[in-house]
Amino acid sequence: MEKSLQIVITGASGFVAKNLRKYLSENNVHLISISRKNFKSFKNETKIISKNYDQKSLLPKIKNSDALIHLVGIGKQSVKTDYESINFRLTQKIVNLSKKAKIKKIIYTSGLGASSDTSLGYFISKFKAEQSIIDSKINYAIFRPSYIVGKNDLFTRYLKKSIKKNKIIVPGSGKYFIQPIFINDVTKLIFQSIVDKKFNNKIIDLVGPEIISFEKYIQLFLQKKKTKLCYMNIEKAYHLAITDSKFDYGVDDLNILVGNFVGDYKKLKNLSKMDFQSVKELLKTGALF
Ligand SMILES: NC(=O)c1ccc[n+]([C@@H]2O[C@H](COP(=O)([O-])OP(=O)(O)OC[C@H]3O[C@@H](n4cnc5c(N)ncnc54)[C@H](OP(=O)(O)O)[C@@H]3O)[C@@H](O)[C@H]2O)c1
Repeated sequence: MEKSLQIVITGASGFVAKNLRKYLSENNVHLISISRKNFKSFKNETKIISKNYDQKSLLPKIKNSDALIHLVGIGKQSVKTDYESINFRLTQKIVNLSKKAKIKKIIYTSGLGASSDTSLGYFISKFKAEQSIIDSKINYAIFRPSYIVGKNDLFTRYLKKSIKKNKIIVPGSGKYFIQPIFINDVTKLIFQSIVDKKFNNKIIDLVGPEIISFEKYIQLFLQKKKTKLCYMNIEKAYHLAITDSKFDYGVDDLNILVGNFVGDYKKLKNLSKMDFQSVKELLKTGALF
């Protein structure tokens, strides 16, 4: 019998991690999942609670794993947590740990918009994280995701809450584009990228088959519901994002939306040969409610 894969996951309580752990567990992967806080484990899963990813305690537990999927990341800064320390320096720490533990492959979810000439702090930190993985000489697959859609992702939860309040804020015109991808396709792709050598040492946009305006996405999400769309002047939206940490959108949420980032779906499709879920169709079925 073939030996089952052993895969380490960081940021185990997050949205992508939860869905991915379930999928991998169902596919008989032995998981070693690391989170800062306690969580419920799946079949085949070893749970590790670590506040700061301390090398001494982690190293013996993750040694010689087939892959490490690094899903720690933040999209909003505060005095306590900033992009440089979490998105970049913690990634560096994980890369060093992976080297010492002789991990065979690193999978990283960066961001669609990360590039050598970006001027945005969020994408700079993601780009530097990517570079630290590439420089390590460990095999890697780096994904640059657009918006990942699922029942429990942050934006879906925001839309559901807003429907109850009968008011959804749309910053500016809402005419800027997103290229959403369904979480079930993401989990399949990440698994494929571990077992399939075609993904080795590639940077790949993680985008869905359709480019949709933000406004259209919300309209499709609503189906026949009559929730009010409240278009907010972009200057006012930025003002609130800067001055009120509880505002519906963070500064970088707005930057990413207005940035109009779309990616190379054809490359992803050719590489994976997968059939992708149409997010438009998914929204029509009401499956996210
Ligand atoms: N979802 C998307 O649409 C999307 C789009 C582009 C890029 N991405 C990237 O994909 C990755 C996963 O996304 P996600 O949606 O699953 O994010 P998420 O739900 O926010 O999960 C990220 C995880 O990072 C860990 N984390 C956060 N702050 C930390 C800190 N200060 N120290 C240590 N760990 C910390 C947490 O794990 P624990 O609580 O378990 O410790 C958290 O659950 C992130 O890197 C994100 O930037 C996601």
